[in-house]
Amino acid sequence: MSKNVNIDWSNLGFSYIKTDLRYISHWKDGKWDDGKLVEDNMLSINEASTALHYGQQCFEGLKAYRTKEGKIQLFRPDQNAKRMVDSCRRILMPEIPEDKFINACIEVVKANEHYVPPYGTGATLYIRPFVIGVGENIGVKPAPEYIFSVFCLPVGPYFKGGMTPVNFTISDYDRAAPYGTGAAKVGGNYAGSLYPHKLAVEKGFADCIYLDPATHTKIEEVGAANFFGITKDDKFITPKSPSILPSITKYSLMHIAEKYLDLEVVERDVLVDNLDEFKEAGACGTAAVITPIGGIEHKGNFHVFHSETEVGPITKKLYETLYGIQFGDVEAPEGWIVEVK
Ligand SMILES: Cc1ncc(COP(=O)(O)O)c(C=O)c1O
Repeated sequence: MSKNVNIDWSNLGFSYIKTDLRYISHWKDGKWDDGKLVEDNMLSINEASTALHYGQQCFEGLKAYRTKEGKIQLFRPDQNAKRMVDSCRRILMPEIPEDKFINACIEVVKANEHYVPPYGTGATLYIRPFVIGVGENIGVKPAPEYIFSVFCLPVGPYFKGGMTPVNFTISDYDRAAPYGTGAAKVGGNYAGSLYPHKLAVEKGFADCIYLDPATHTKIEEVGAANFFGITKDDKFITPKSPSILPSITKYSLMHIAEKYLDLEVVERDVLVDNLDEFKEAGACGTAAVITPIGGIEHKGNFHVFHSETEVGPITKKLYETLYGIQFGDVEAPEGWIVEVK
């Protein structure tokens, strides 16, 4: 580490911390400039920017991990780059080429290397790339100019005192329309989720689960994470739908379930009236890797999976394998790890 920073690594949460440098690139007249690292964490944009009025923006979230040997590595940044291309296409923003995306992430991590938490703390450096439509415009149409930026901040481990299951309630609200923008990582999906999340927390749950918007019979997303369940005959099941955000953690767990744990993996409908088929369930995403689901409340009934207090054995193995890969303790499938050097 090149420089000392005054951070209590073991008490980090998920709050904004200004790190030293961020990357910023501008798109104008049909092309992206080379981009550069800047100190300023404030953006000055036109008041009529489409990002402010029409939600023309998207973002990504990934992490840099410090290994036992002190190296720094990214986990599958190519997958985040591809998803950002898909998000940009969906809302008519210029794509960020994959190498530009990955290089920007690497540059930002390197420039803030001393903020990458030490191995063993469970803390990581969270990387937030985003694209916004800016410039002079007032009609509902794509912006004349764009900004692609990447910043980072250290974040604590999701589970401080070890992995514990949490409970969820099924929402009456939808996070996305059947063929809307649910599969894109665009801000509007998250604005719409704030109120249902508040209602769930007020009822004493960690968050809410969204059902498929067309029929309200199938599980789609668990807050801002994907769902998986382990059936009584040891199959890893996860919902398939065009309105779910394709979670990189979920696709990584599907690979781990099949190749490391020897489970059958199936992407298919998960009926909210058939939760009995699962002996374990979890929510997965970059933030927590896996949040074990204790129970789910639906129309006054409460369904408990493995336990409300203990993590199921398969969920635990999935978590330990993926966490081990991310921190360099378990051998990764080819291409999953990109070293920052
Ligand atoms: C709505 C939603 N679903 C799922 C996920 C999990 O995706 P990932 O595993 O790529 O972090 C996220 C987080 O990015 C999300 O915001």
